[in-house]
Amino acid sequence: MTESGITPKAFHTVARVVVDDGLLGCALVRELGLTKAELDTDGDFLLTEYAGAIDLRPPGEHGRRGIQANFPPDKNPPSNSPRGGGRNPLVRAFGRQIGEILDLTAGLGGDAYRLAHAGHRVCGCERNPAVYAVLASGWERARKRGSIPAALVERLSFAYGEGADRIDSLEGPNLGVYIDPMYPPPRRSSAKPRRELQVLRALLGGQRDAAGLVERSREKAARVVVKRPHHAEPLVPGASFEIETKLVRFDVYVNPKRMEAGSGE
Ligand SMILES: C[S@@+](CC[C@H](N)C(=O)[O-])C[C@H]1O[C@@H](n2cnc3c(N)ncnc32)[C@H](O)[C@@H]1O
Repeated sequence: MTESGITPKAFHTVARVVVDDGLLGCALVRELGLTKAELDTDGDFLLTEYAGAIDLRPPGEHGRRGIQANFPPDKNPPSNSPRGGGRNPLVRAFGRQIGEILDLTAGLGGDAYRLAHAGHRVCGCERNPAVYAVLASGWERARKRGSIPAALVERLSFAYGEGADRIDSLEGPNLGVYIDPMYPPPRRSSAKPRRELQVLRALLGGQRDAAGLVERSREKAARVVVKRPHHAEPLVPGASFEIETKLVRFDVYVNPKRMEAGSGE
């Protein structure tokens, strides 16, 4: 299946991210930054500071609160039973045996947090500098406020960069990979997506390399979990099983050769 939704405009806007003066800022984004005088309020995204963290505002909405990375991400966190035992479908998809998880598509970090909350050690990679700036500053704000349990802070980390570059370094048994790629909006849907998703879609468009990430990860990881919308075909055929929720589906690819002998499931 080809993923549509990548437009030249979407890429143009990625390069026109502006960092507000005097911001706690992120050097990575500053490299792309233009001066404020060059800002096109109807064409550019704006990164600014709001309530102690970086906030990303889409074109035409610079006067309105944008999107941020908030931790914890859920008002009512899923029950924190040991790995695999919780009701959270993402946590169930990784099962009981997976220890460490590489999240190749960290975004605003919500899913990485949910997995770390369930007891996994998680590293989340984000390759878009503007999204990474939002993610890193939101995580820093939460840690400074002390709103995250110390053990969870120790288990969860985020890194800037291309997730694909990390796949080959995966060594050892019982490793998991999580992939939640950008996907185009459903052809027929009256439901408006969450604001976070609307802004990310406007910034990033769709994604063409997601199937390749799944193929490569399947070689190295004991379990690869891919989040898909209901309307989409699997990115790669041959999923071992699926977990469906009202809104999304998790396609789970198990590689028994990468499980520790005798570790069961
Ligand atoms: C749908 S969002 C992920 C949302 C995330 N699961 C969450 O809970 O917020 C996809 C994100 O993955 C990032 N991304 C996609 N492919 C990537 C790759 N190969 N390496 C690093 N980041 C990637 C995109 O820039 C985007 O921010």
